[in-house]
Amino acid sequence: MAKMGNNFFSISFDLIAIDCAIPYDLYVNSSANENKEKYVRIFPVNDSVTSEELKVFKKKYFQLYVHESQREQYLKSLLHCSNVPDSKKSEIIKDSAIHYLDKLFDKDKVFTTEILSETLQGCKTTVESMVDVIKDYDVSKLQSLIATLSFHDFYTYDHSINVSMYCIALYSAARPNAPKEEIVLAGLGGLLHDIGKVKISTDIINNPDKLTEEEFDVIKKHPDYGYNLLVENSCSCEGVDFEVIKRIVHEHHENFNGTGYPSKLAGVDIHLLARVTAIADFFDAITTKRSYHDVLPTEDAIAVMSKSVGKKLDPELFEIFTTSVKQLVLTGKINKELPEDFDPCQPQNVLPFRIPKPSFKVEGFGDKEKERAFGKIKKKVG
Ligand SMILES: [Fe+2]
Ligand SMILES: [Fe+2]
Repeated sequence: MAKMGNNFFSISFDLIAIDCAIPYDLYVNSSANENKEKYVRIFPVNDSVTSEELKVFKKKYFQLYVHESQREQYLKSLLHCSNVPDSKKSEIIKDSAIHYLDKLFDKDKVFTTEILSETLQGCKTTVESMVDVIKDYDVSKLQSLIATLSFHDFYTYDHSINVSMYCIALYSAARPNAPKEEIVLAGLGGLLHDIGKVKISTDIINNPDKLTEEEFDVIKKHPDYGYNLLVENSCSCEGVDFEVIKRIVHEHHENFNGTGYPSKLAGVDIHLLARVTAIADFFDAITTKRSYHDVLPTEDAIAVMSKSVGKKLDPELFEIFTTSVKQLVLTGKINKELPEDFDPCQPQNVLPFRIPKPSFKVEGFGDKEKERAFGKIKKKVG
């Protein structure tokens, strides 16, 4: 589904619900000139479309079109198409998410509260559709689904959408009886968590090389930038608690042990959904295939992340996360960790792994466990 001029977007013929009233107008581009657009409505809203009728149009036209103002209605109706597989639905939902993220990350745009609220409403509808498709997915199933989706050349878009999906899966696992609005809030927080990067030069946010200290200091401002953007525009969106979204945006780089930024919050002082986002953020950064670094197999990713439990990550939530990864076999072969200031929101050419240092304990305390984890323990002498 590509973005088109004249505020129309294209859809393929196999993504139309057959023999039932469609809640949007359907158009074709009847211009004979490839570079020109002349949209003609072939079915009005609430009309029913038969497969025979579609076949006739398919012979003549390459694609169908829907007006941008009816994107929400199109997304909702797509969810009811039982003949469309989840991977295809997710691709379209992702496309819709990119459409809205693109509006949010448009550097030339002067934000008004109205434009921002309208775009955020679109983000919310997109996340609602996402929740409908993946609500019963565990992390493993989600990982396979994400692997089928196409990539955007702007890292932040793919990353934000993946984080949103993992937030939905983790929060649903942590709160199995949570109402849909809460799950949507978790997904929306994940989608918007890096919104503050709109204020940072793309040369820095797209740079997969090791950043200079100055550049990293700039990056570290994005939670504050994002928070201020939402506060200054007094964003609102029906059914969404923006106080929570603001906290997710502001607190997703806080570490569980209080060493994060910008406020050095620790433990449960960090909002639950910001702690959920931190796990989703970390997991996506080291497992999702992209052109930068090699990704880790799930088992190794969990092993690497487990080294950050209690430091960067909330132990209880991480436990829930790992139980949502099916058939997890930890071989114990990988003994690497990522530093506490590892930034999962940045593209990275090389993941900055290091070998964890064993901490030496006084003789007689926990040596058995230490021996299992690190081999022979040096005993303190004297
Ligand atoms: Fe991130
Ligand atoms: Fe971030």
